[in-house]
Amino acid sequence: MTMLSKRNPQLNKHGELVHLLSTEGLPRAVIHQILDTAGTFLSVNDREVKKVPLLRGKSVFNLFFENSTRTRTTFEIAAKRLSADVINLDIARSSTAKGETLLDTVANLSAMHADMFVVRHSESGAPYLIAQHCAPHVHVVNAGDGRHAHPTQGLLDMYTIRHYKKDFTQLTVAIVGDIVHSRVARSDIHALNILGVPEIRAVGPKTLVPGDLKDMGVRVCHDMAEGMRDADVIIMLRLQNERMSGAMLPSAGEYFKSFGLTPEKLALAKPDAIVMHPGPINRGVEISSSVADGQHSVILPQVTFGIAVRMAVMSILAGNEA
Ligand code: CP
Repeated sequence: MTMLSKRNPQLNKHGELVHLLSTEGLPRAVIHQILDTAGTFLSVNDREVKKVPLLRGKSVFNLFFENSTRTRTTFEIAAKRLSADVINLDIARSSTAKGETLLDTVANLSAMHADMFVVRHSESGAPYLIAQHCAPHVHVVNAGDGRHAHPTQGLLDMYTIRHYKKDFTQLTVAIVGDIVHSRVARSDIHALNILGVPEIRAVGPKTLVPGDLKDMGVRVCHDMAEGMRDADVIIMLRLQNERMSGAMLPSAGEYFKSFGLTPEKLALAKPDAIVMHPGPINRGVEISSSVADGQHSVILPQVTFGIAVRMAVMSILAGNEA
């Protein structure tokens, strides 16, 4: 039986992180601890021998029940840089295809002495379920669950913003696009609120921006010019067609005309605004190539920072007991 906090299942009774399931409810000090620790790991990427021994002897299991390029690869790189043994379960060839349940799969992998599970799943809450049922010494990291949360993406986004903008308390951050289906938007909004960002805007058509975001302290803008004006940080999101039911949009072309980020729309933001995107990007749908590849874009640095942030999360978890 684990001794997790009743208020927040990812913290132990001392308020330390033992699982990373969501940015919601994370103490500000824990977010800063992750960002500061990530800063110390950035230089590991530049060494000839890119390794530190913090997870030597530990086994990290990557369980990706949904497709991924960036998250899966950077988690694997991060775990290897921490000297862990990394096992990538090939879900398509696993016994999941024969009907084995998620919890039975996890129980069997635990019997192989797993120390950490990194889980992506199409069902919101799947990583919580695993965290509730695994042994006390095992840590669970949510690598994206349904529409719910993608906390390491949220944290690497915060790292990127801090790297370029330093002070969260002076910023206007615009999140643009398919917010209703986006676990990244939710994780970013929670983290931005915790870090004291005074103006968070959710920008997009009515069908893709839920009105209840106002309850999270977010200004909802259905007009791109209003959303872009004087923004310091612009986070573009992909249209998640795989999660849309029915006609939520007129057409990709119409969407691009209204909400696609072009140099003209970007010119309404602050002159030193940064443009972010969690990826994968759809050129000509939510962002033009000239912006995605332009001087304001920090989309590829986000990916690189993701390695250090995931190293930070895994090393902090491994140092804390349930
Ligand atoms: N940002 C992100 O989650 O990308 P992947 O789906 O490629 O992991």
